[in-house]
Amino acid sequence: MTTINRTKVKELIQRENERYADERPKSRELFEQAQSSLIFGVPMAGMNEWVGDFPIYVEAGDGAYLTDVDGNRYLDLCLGDSGSMCGHTPQATIDAVTTQINRGFTFWLPTEDSIWVGKELTRRFGLPYWQVYLRASDANNAALSVARDVTQRYPIIVFNGSYHGHVPESRLGLMNDNIWPEPRGKHDMVDIRDGVVWRGTHAQGIEPTTSTGTRVIDFNDLDALEKALSTEDIACVLCEPAMTNVGIIMPDPGYHEQLRRLTRKYGTLLIIDETHTICGGPYGYTKPWKLEPDIYTIGKPVAGGIPTAFMGIGEDVQKVLQSQKVGKALKSIGGGTLSGNALSLAAARATLEHVLTEATYEYTISLCEKLVDGVDGIIKANDLPWHVLRLGCRAEWRWSKTPPRNGKEARAATDSALHELVHLYFMNRGILLTPPHSMVLIPPECTVEDIDHHNSVFAEFVSELV
Ligand SMILES: Cc1ncc(COP(=O)(O)O)c(C=O)c1O
Repeated sequence: MTTINRTKVKELIQRENERYADERPKSRELFEQAQSSLIFGVPMAGMNEWVGDFPIYVEAGDGAYLTDVDGNRYLDLCLGDSGSMCGHTPQATIDAVTTQINRGFTFWLPTEDSIWVGKELTRRFGLPYWQVYLRASDANNAALSVARDVTQRYPIIVFNGSYHGHVPESRLGLMNDNIWPEPRGKHDMVDIRDGVVWRGTHAQGIEPTTSTGTRVIDFNDLDALEKALSTEDIACVLCEPAMTNVGIIMPDPGYHEQLRRLTRKYGTLLIIDETHTICGGPYGYTKPWKLEPDIYTIGKPVAGGIPTAFMGIGEDVQKVLQSQKVGKALKSIGGGTLSGNALSLAAARATLEHVLTEATYEYTISLCEKLVDGVDGIIKANDLPWHVLRLGCRAEWRWSKTPPRNGKEARAATDSALHELVHLYFMNRGILLTPPHSMVLIPPECTVEDIDHHNSVFAEFVSELV
């Protein structure tokens, strides 16, 4: 097995960092200017996840590409962390948005597009009733509130290493290997770790008391799952079909079947968040894998990147909500003045009808297969202790020989120096990978030549290392 020369990695990071800075003087200058008016110098703190001493500033996106203010052009395989999975200029979405822009953006009243979209979501994902939000975070917050109202229980289960957006309770999953059961207090709504207070109180329907909490368990561990559920006080399990936020982690064969059986056995609702796994195909994985969630959430690319997200609920959940007065149900369903706006729905309709189609996925998945074959071949030819995984049109390579089965194993396989190097290396050669891992997503405008370019950069990267 080839071992990586750490001195070489250090040298390469320094060389690539210098090149990064030299080729982007205007971005650096803008970032310096931004320090005096923006928190951390960026409009959204997560934009600081990129490598380099400053982020690139975007001039324009165009199909699979974007250009920065210094005139560097990139094949964009990050795609706004999935928000632009449809590419930067999906024509059908642009046309629909342009038409709607001239007819008003937001009315606090429904437009006919909402009915088409609701029916389409049912066709794709199976759940009969839908609400529209601006972000997947909002849809997930609503889903937790609904689950709590329906079950009259408060604690939730999330998986170690998961991320579901700005959902305070679920962020415990992302933070560290803080696995349940542990001494009380660690998983309470008010949680103090490393001097930081985590407070999960903003979702509607949650009592901000320390008797509520989040239980974090490892994915693919059925014993831990049953143990956590058997307390019979869990409102819901919130999860993705396959984990994507500590890299890709596939479910063990039969895991989802057991998850569904056990949640039903203990009266716990199942929320499936398909915000990232919609990379798997037009039906995500919910329909193909027969996941049967009680509540379903999705966001990011569903309207081509125009802020839009959805929450779907099943018949049983709908019955409970309908038995409540509208005012009370509203508290748990949530929403917001701009949610369900005309522009989002026009964009969602066009995107679902014309962009996120079977034909598009057939093409992007075939390109992703080509990318993975190439990367896998290079890893094997060089006997590297790495692997590459594909999830539909998303792929990721990792610094471990075998795929991790849970968040703990995934964290053990991180290598921050190689991570920094690979991102710098690819950016300096015109390709954006997705931070904070080595993930790629293939947009519809990508070409075979783009994939060849990606794979030749990967080969060059490896040849410098070994
Ligand atoms: C699985 C999953 N769900 C929900 C979200 C939240 O999406 P947003 O930030 O658009 O609200 C994310 C964000 O990365 C995510 O990965």
